[in-house]
Amino acid sequence: MDFFKENVNDTWEALRADCANCMRCELGRTRHNLVFGVGNEHADVMFIGEGPGEQEDLQGEPFVGPAGKLLDTMLEIIDLDRTMVYIANIVKCRPPRNRDPLPDEQAACIGWLHRQISLVDPKIMVFLGRIAAMAFIKPDFRITREHGQWFDVNGRRAMAIYHPSALLRDPSKRPETFVDLKTLQREIRDLS
Ligand code: URA
Repeated sequence: MDFFKENVNDTWEALRADCANCMRCELGRTRHNLVFGVGNEHADVMFIGEGPGEQEDLQGEPFVGPAGKLLDTMLEIIDLDRTMVYIANIVKCRPPRNRDPLPDEQAACIGWLHRQISLVDPKIMVFLGRIAAMAFIKPDFRITREHGQWFDVNGRRAMAIYHPSALLRDPSKRPETFVDLKTLQREIRDLS
């Protein structure tokens, strides 16, 4: 089944309305805001993170905390900004204490993201960190070995890079990420 092409009649309005009061998992009980997604709804490139942190939960927007500031810098390095890409997460509500989203929470939430992907219809998907890469590329994805490599995900070019939070914790990974970003930039240039 091509789960990215579930419903050709889907619309952003319908998706936002369906998603708005979601209580499909326990994370709905503790959220301040559901963090839907942000950016260009027709972007060629979609960035997919793991789940909202504290600032995202409070503001209702993905990647607005410290990791988000670094993501903005990473976009700038390759001449992109938030208005040119679409950014969303595997889970739309904050896991307590920023723990990894549990498999059942991911399973409950992923359908919203599949509909977002279908609507954006990006040519390139960039997964931020291991959790997002495992959900889409393969369950045994190894971010240390496989970041920066191209994969096919349902006919789309897909790459995982280190999560900006990992780069904040361990700046020694930044040079590798710079190389990955340049690889991504070349791919984007080849689209035109
Ligand atoms: N980390 C994520 O994976 N997503 C966000 O939106 C913020 C931090």
